Amino acid sequence: MSRLDGKVALVTGGALGIGAACVNRLVEAGARVAVADVLDGPGRQLAERFGDRARYFHADVAVEAEVQRLLADMLAAFGRLDVLVNNAGIAGANKPTHEITEAEWDRVQAVNVKGVFFCTKHAIAPLRAAGGGSIINLSSIYGLVGAPDVPPYHASKGAVRLMSKTDALLYAADRIRVNSIHPGYIWTPMVEHHLAATGGDLEQLRREVGALHPLGHMGEPDDIAWGVVYLASDESKFVTGSELVIDGGYSCR
Ligand SMILES: NC(=O)c1ccc[n+]([C@@H]2O[C@H](COP(=O)([O-])OP(=O)(O)OC[C@H]3O[C@@H](n4cnc5c(N)ncnc54)[C@H](O)[C@@H]3O)[C@@H](O)[C@H]2O)c1
Repeated sequence: MSRLDGKVALVTGGALGIGAACVNRLVEAGARVAVADVLDGPGRQLAERFGDRARYFHADVAVEAEVQRLLADMLAAFGRLDVLVNNAGIAGANKPTHEITEAEWDRVQAVNVKGVFFCTKHAIAPLRAAGGGSIINLSSIYGLVGAPDVPPYHASKGAVRLMSKTDALLYAADRIRVNSIHPGYIWTPMVEHHLAATGGDLEQLRREVGALHPLGHMGEPDDIAWGVVYLASDESKFVTGSELVIDGGYSCR
């Protein structure tokens, strides 16, 4: 018997990076997985690798009507929902606070905060119908500590941390557990683009940012995916409202 046999998971932002690693590991652990993203090519390709155990759905998490349709379509395909991984996120504008425009601020909150809200809102009824479940929200080390860059992103990840605790309390009686994960730097397209945008030599930047972590390097998507599998499984049945920090020691200081 595998750890997630019989469970159905929905992973937002599942086409690339951490989301794609979650899809891989969740399927491997026995779940059937709905992959939601706005990148249709990579999302479809990934889902097709798993035959009828995974299916791709186009959905922009910042648009409530698309999230509503996503939940309806994935329920029609899989019949139930046990695990929601709110992973879709963007880094957004990297400028100091006094230079950020309202539109730049709003775009990051729309995806990173409102997206988590919309997906959670529309997942509650099917999770209740399943008799409970697990919501896993991707926050960040920057939902725990500050850094002098990407102000809208850090604000969004702080919001996700406390949204997780509020929802943990609101839905505990329904046996719906809600936890946040706080990754350090993980080598994904998001981090690669973020570092590339600063100019400079990418490999050197990768080493420098890696050295901020006491373990001496950046993490890889699977480091986060294994945490997601744990929080998705019944092994974590007494865990709710918690902060799973997977950061190579970054936030110990
Ligand atoms: N990589 C890191 O170092 C790191 C660290 C801490 C937290 N995180 C968080 O983990 C999550 C995944 O990050 P990643 O590094 O894999 O990012 P990524 O950019 O590599 O992948 C993000 C995925 O989300 C999708 N996406 C973006 N906007 C979307 C939208 N509106 N609707 C649906 N899908 C959308 C993208 O198309 C992409 O497939 C994010 O929430 C990110 O903030 C990442």
